[in-house]
Amino acid sequence: MFSFLNKDQTTGEVEERQLDETNIPAHVAIIMDGNGRWAQQRHLPRIAGHKQGMNTVKTVAMAASNLGVKVLTLYAFSTENWKRPSAEVNYLMKLPVDFFGTFVPDLVKNNIRVKVMGYTDQLPAATQKAVNDAIADTKDCTGMVLNFALNYGGRAEIVTAVQKLAEQVQTGQLTATDIDDDAIDRELMTADLGELRDPDLLIRTSGEERLSNFMLWQVAYSEFVFTQQHWPDFDQTALEQAIYEYQQRHRRFGGLATDNTK
Ligand code: FPP
Repeated sequence: MFSFLNKDQTTGEVEERQLDETNIPAHVAIIMDGNGRWAQQRHLPRIAGHKQGMNTVKTVAMAASNLGVKVLTLYAFSTENWKRPSAEVNYLMKLPVDFFGTFVPDLVKNNIRVKVMGYTDQLPAATQKAVNDAIADTKDCTGMVLNFALNYGGRAEIVTAVQKLAEQVQTGQLTATDIDDDAIDRELMTADLGELRDPDLLIRTSGEERLSNFMLWQVAYSEFVFTQQHWPDFDQTALEQAIYEYQQRHRRFGGLATDNTK
């Protein structure tokens, strides 16, 4: 049993809670929201929020790995984020360079493998290099997969998969009726995660309750937990609280609960 101190967000009451070690979500995905608001509350520029958000990535990656999470997917930059002011976009593009430049030795020490999903060929050359180096440097790690969604969009991912399947039909490798869930899964950017490709738990920080084009296919049966903290304030306890909430849910995948009453 992992125990942690839960603080009620409305009453401030603190109580010790136990996590069931046998029911840790294998794949946790996080929409890291609220960096800008965190900075604004402190009268700091938005990029200060992103910088602090990068430090939170380090804390949360370690915490998830220690809890036994197998895949941690983080929404770091969406295909829509290019619409932000160019100074902010440039800063966000530099973050992976800083992050991997300083953190890869810790990732290797903790047996964490880096994966990236998204249209990475459209990223600046220095960002691509940082990402590719991190993937290469951690390729032999067999523990948690730290999966960054970078220049990622759920609809674009599905469109690309459908195009690839259409090409396979055109060349006679597939017939239209061969296209099923498995065929689509094989063409998505999570294909290499195998059985772990679909998040068990999706967390969004900062109070917003929407998907913002994130893993639209893969979250079909995920449990959603929305937290009030802005991403820079998210920490190990917040992750444990979200996992605790996940453990109170009864996942049915469209069927019935085993005791048929829930
Ligand atoms: C959303 O907050 C956050 C982002 C668009 C960027 C997320 C990036 C990080 C947390 C750092 C990633 C680190 C690495 C290593 C890639 P927002 O800016 O939309 O916040 P707001 O809604 O309060 O304005």
